[in-house]
Amino acid sequence: MQLARFQNKKLTKEPITMLTAYDYQFARLLDQAGIDMILVGDSLGMVVLGYESTVPVTMEEMLHHAKAVRRGTEKAFVIGDLPYMSYQISVEEAIRNAGRFLKEAGCHGVKLEGGQEMAETVRAVTRAGIPVVGHIGLTPQTATALGGYKVQGADAETAKRLCDDAVALSQAGAFSIVLECIPTELARHITETIPIPTIGIGAGPFCDGQVLVTHDLLGIFDKFTPRFVKKYANLAPLIKDALAAFLSEVREGKFPDADHSFGGGEEGKGKKTLP
Ligand code: KIV
Repeated sequence: MQLARFQNKKLTKEPITMLTAYDYQFARLLDQAGIDMILVGDSLGMVVLGYESTVPVTMEEMLHHAKAVRRGTEKAFVIGDLPYMSYQISVEEAIRNAGRFLKEAGCHGVKLEGGQEMAETVRAVTRAGIPVVGHIGLTPQTATALGGYKVQGADAETAKRLCDDAVALSQAGAFSIVLECIPTELARHITETIPIPTIGIGAGPFCDGQVLVTHDLLGIFDKFTPRFVKKYANLAPLIKDALAAFLSEVREGKFPDADHSFGGGEEGKGKKTLP
């Protein structure tokens, strides 16, 4: 069982890897790279749907992308991110929507944002047999209420609240918790305090695992880059160059050439049949 594997990784201090995917092809690439967990994050709202925040993302949009990701995954543990208002209204709705990720999209688990106030929901969803990842610190769905996209837990009061949140989620049955944008020492303390793995994003090196938005680390999403993102590639300029080359070659009549046409050479141009 994969959950035991993640728990074991915490005990043996083997870092857990998680990245986002929103479609079949990226899921294949991540799976082939040997990633432990793929998160179909509601960040897809900003990264691939062009929304200003994650708030407008719907369950139907999430399921559409989660199904594609599952089709591209053989080994990784796939987590569907419950979008805003799909789990806050009632525990029943939370179970129903979490269940849809498993039944309709074939995900292995779900993630939801929130601390102690979500403990009852996490308990109920877990009891329904659905593995849950918690998410505390900077929770993008409620970023406005938190004062914007900024570090959380920087003062003693909020740091204590985040510790209590982590303990509550762990006791409610979450099998892992994402810690987003919190100070390194607080993340270390939480990681050492709770028995389940923590997955950090902007939470320093002492978490049990790390997650990033794949489009950020590849340098594809160039609208803004949070400080905690390390760009392992800068693909946006490469993509722009490739597109510019295509446009100019087509406009200059250089593409398609004989190598990319059936029949080859000048005489092949315009032929509709295979050679
Ligand atoms: O939606 C998302 O991609 C996330 C990660 C940033 C953890 O929640």
